Amino acid sequence: MKLVDNKATLSFSNGSPSVDLPVYGGNIGPDVIDIRKLYAQTGMFTYDPGFLSTASCQSAITYIDGDKGELLYRGYPIEQLATHCDYLDTCFLLLNGELPNEQERTDFHKLVTNHTMVNEQMQFFLRGFRRDAHPMAVLTGLVGALSAFYHDSTDINNPEHRRIAAIRLIAKMPTLVAMSYKYGIGQPYMYPQNNLSYAGNFLRMMFGTPCEEYQVNPVLERALDRIFILHADHEQNASTSTVRLCGSSGTNPFAAIAAGVACLWGPAHGGANEACLNMLEDIQRNGGIAKVGEFMNQVKDKNSGVKLMGFGHRVYKNYDPRAKLMQETCNEVLQELGLENDPLFKLAKELEKIALEDEYFVSRKLYPNVDFYSGIVQRAIGIPVNLFTGIFALARTVGWIAQLNEMIGDPEYKIGRPRQLFTGSPRRDVPAAKK
Ligand code: CMC
Repeated sequence: MKLVDNKATLSFSNGSPSVDLPVYGGNIGPDVIDIRKLYAQTGMFTYDPGFLSTASCQSAITYIDGDKGELLYRGYPIEQLATHCDYLDTCFLLLNGELPNEQERTDFHKLVTNHTMVNEQMQFFLRGFRRDAHPMAVLTGLVGALSAFYHDSTDINNPEHRRIAAIRLIAKMPTLVAMSYKYGIGQPYMYPQNNLSYAGNFLRMMFGTPCEEYQVNPVLERALDRIFILHADHEQNASTSTVRLCGSSGTNPFAAIAAGVACLWGPAHGGANEACLNMLEDIQRNGGIAKVGEFMNQVKDKNSGVKLMGFGHRVYKNYDPRAKLMQETCNEVLQELGLENDPLFKLAKELEKIALEDEYFVSRKLYPNVDFYSGIVQRAIGIPVNLFTGIFALARTVGWIAQLNEMIGDPEYKIGRPRQLFTGSPRRDVPAAKK
């Protein structure tokens, strides 16, 4: 963060003295006005619910240019990472700042693989849940519970603890997601198999059974790996900011990541892929493509409360680059499985076509986001709809932990403590009759 040759001056119409505020520049992207001393200087706070104009931290991990539709992890465009690297390379990059060389790659894959198993006691903990519990409810509990099982890596101020906790989380998330799925359908858990790739192992833990050999389909393995890469990080989104805020109190990494899982669950965030597929299925049930026009009218009617799920983004005011890659993967997977005529895929493409030409969406710069096609891919792979957000959580874990560790290592880090504009009652006395 460097001072730029510019300063902001805040003046007031009531004659209060104006104040100069420093301006800092990053390497790319908008400059920021430093308001940290504003309260001391003026007795006023800034007001920005929803953080529309607030940079909550400095970060060197992920950069989004929402107008261009560009996403960079540590400087590398998402398109290149999704084409030339795998998910574990991407994890290494997000955690360490550089892509691994040959030796680092081998060592990192081995390290993650060595931690894929979870404490055997976890399955008894899992048994306390109802079989029909939503997997995100289960996952929030399981991830939080990791802090009870891995006491030796819970000191957030110890770099070695943070390193081990990061590896444990990345390695164990697929095992936990698959366990929550198997528990729900009453099948035995599959232990991880460490000679498989990260995505291949997950497919086997999900769909394999102890009764027969499971053959990993390389097209599905690659598709899943790409889903993981595309969801790995996304700068200061709601769940990442939750993880940072939660971790800023000094709590342990497992607890902070559990908070991220809970935040991700919401339909405006990670829950959108589930909501999007439910929406497509609903339209299909109610008449399919013939009813798309009617559905779009509802979306545009502000009183209907209906949104086109998988569309729109706080930052992207252009096509989400992840959605393009996801559409490509969608084509590959459907072709591999002989589902080229999948009615939901056709429906999604029709909705997209209409929306991209419709004044309502064009004027608001609403484009498909990553969730628009990811549900169709996951459904084709055989992942049940209510597990979609769990897959997102699995993939985002590395982003959360990289951001958390960056925050702890930042000399400027403090506990996060926003202020408020109070609109409630001023001091008053309890009525005499109650005393
Ligand atoms: N369908 C219909 N109208 C929409 C949509 C949509 N999906 N998204 C935004 N709008 C309208 C909104 O009503 C508003 O209209 P107006 O200016 O007339 O009041 C305008 O577009 C601006 O929207 P906003 O709600 O102020 O934008 P936001 O930045 O607060 O919200 C969002 C962003 C992602 C929550 C929102 O676009 C949305 O709810 N989309 C659907 C859910 C979704 O797909 N979420 C996944 C996000 S990507 C994955 C992730 O990172 O989690």
